[in-house]
Amino acid sequence: MTTSQPETKKRHWCRWTLVVLALVVLVPLLNLAQRFMTDEAVTYADPVEHFKYGSTGGERNLGFPYWIWRVLPELCADYLPGDGFASVGMIYEPGHDLPVGMSKRRHMGIDRVFLNCAVCHTSTVRRSVDDEPTLVVGMGANTLDLMAFQKFMHQCVTDRRFTPNQIVPRIEAAGADLGLLDRYLVYPLAVHLMRDGVAGLLGRLRFIHIQPDWGPGRVDTFNSAKALFNYPIERLRTDELLGTADFPTIWNQAKKHGMQLHWDGNNDHVEERNLNASFGTGATPRLIDHDAIARIQAWNATATPPPFSDFFDIDAQLAEQGRPVYERYCADCHGKNGEDFSGAQVGKVVPLEAIATDPFRLRSFTPELAVNLGTPYAGTPYRFQHFRKTFGYANAPMDGLWLRAPFLHNGSVPTLWDLLSPADKRPVTFWRGNDRYDPVRLGFVNDVETENGRRFFLYDTRVPGNGNFGHDGERYGTSLPDTQKLALIEYLKTF
Ligand code: HEC
Ligand code: HEC
Repeated sequence: MTTSQPETKKRHWCRWTLVVLALVVLVPLLNLAQRFMTDEAVTYADPVEHFKYGSTGGERNLGFPYWIWRVLPELCADYLPGDGFASVGMIYEPGHDLPVGMSKRRHMGIDRVFLNCAVCHTSTVRRSVDDEPTLVVGMGANTLDLMAFQKFMHQCVTDRRFTPNQIVPRIEAAGADLGLLDRYLVYPLAVHLMRDGVAGLLGRLRFIHIQPDWGPGRVDTFNSAKALFNYPIERLRTDELLGTADFPTIWNQAKKHGMQLHWDGNNDHVEERNLNASFGTGATPRLIDHDAIARIQAWNATATPPPFSDFFDIDAQLAEQGRPVYERYCADCHGKNGEDFSGAQVGKVVPLEAIATDPFRLRSFTPELAVNLGTPYAGTPYRFQHFRKTFGYANAPMDGLWLRAPFLHNGSVPTLWDLLSPADKRPVTFWRGNDRYDPVRLGFVNDVETENGRRFFLYDTRVPGNGNFGHDGERYGTSLPDTQKLALIEYLKTF
């Protein structure tokens, strides 16, 4: 075999051209691939930080581009009640550019952010008008007006200002260092994708437009679930289309294993309650980060509420007088005390006829939904098997009782003093959303309309779903003499 000299040279030349070409084409391609295929969440070693800011995987599905999120309050300022997302009750800690309850992930070439569990399960407490707010992780998000937030997002992305021309310069003014690719391709595309994504999601959640305002601290849990399952909302019975519920506390989950919980006691399985909750964070079965959920589960298994005595004094002697009153009237249903949850009826459901509280939330969870909840994780070990239709509301343990206010499943009774009053003596309207605590009546201050530049929400118990009746009568302590009620309240401060 012979090869002529020029041919060998030609082949060498060819090879080199290929190598150079490969470098010229491949390196940028790899760069691009690295940029656009990275899928990495910001992570936190500390479990509480993970709960507050960690990802459950949902940003891949619903995540807003971080920089667009940052400029929205300015772009659509007229659709917010005040300054920034804090004006719909989101909480910012010093040194953080995202509110508590929001996680960040590098995905599809940009940073994307979305809500996590903490947005609905964290709030603040102040002792006085001038007090610095203390963050309490695991209580209901009493200041967050989720409906106002959803409506803001919907209005803003469908507004004529929501265009790359308006948004990209604002992003640069806000301090982002955008390259040419970002400025002319990535962000313009992101604007369009976000408009379609948010409009699509909020289109599914359209039932909120026919509901009375939730106000801060509440969401319609199971109609949101129906919407995400793409139920034909318009064809549902009207009496199941309203199920607004107060955000609950989520401490001590390990001790609550086997109890029928959620407000109507529709699920007695801790892991399923946690996993079901992750739908609210955008984490669908395909995208969910099970390890991240497992870390939250490990945390809320043993997390405990902050003691009342860290904030205010307790009269130990008076509390001691309240103990027998509690044990006689309440312990059977709500547990021996704030740490020992034993009791014959704890974690069981009281029929609606007996508890006689507002029926809407109970009716919103239908037998069909209980069955449908078996489908999202079908064929996997995670399949939900513990959802049941019930016919009343659950007897929950009362750990952190003082932070559960406003009380009852719909948050219709502002203080414990009011809950221990006969239903016709409870306030008909009150202001919700204040984080200043009233240590006498045990609840959040609810008789002022504005404070420190914030305006609260007028909760009207005459609106459908907002009823403040029930949990009334001798068995529920509402006919006790005032002296015994005050002793009982003092004792309940130790929970
Ligand atoms: C959109 C707000 C929202 C988000 C986000 C959210 N939750 Fe909840 N969570 C609720 C509401 C409301 C309930 C009460 C549901 C009901 O019975 O109607 C609840 C109930 C629970 C319960 C049961 C509490 C009990 O004792 O009955 C647990 C546990 C829980 N959530 C954990 C989580 C975890 C873990 C996450 C994140 C993966 C999460 N939640 C995300 C609003 C939220
Ligand atoms: C027969 C069982 C039963 C008895 C007795 C009972 N409760 Fe309840 N309690 C319930 C049920 C069920 C609910 C939930 C009702 C709802 O949200 O619609 C509830 C709700 C509450 C709540 C609101 C919890 C929250 O997170 O909003 C408080 C506080 C409470 N009870 C305190 C008491 C006290 C104090 C007593 C004794 C004087 C008492 N209960 C007696 C069954 C009982």
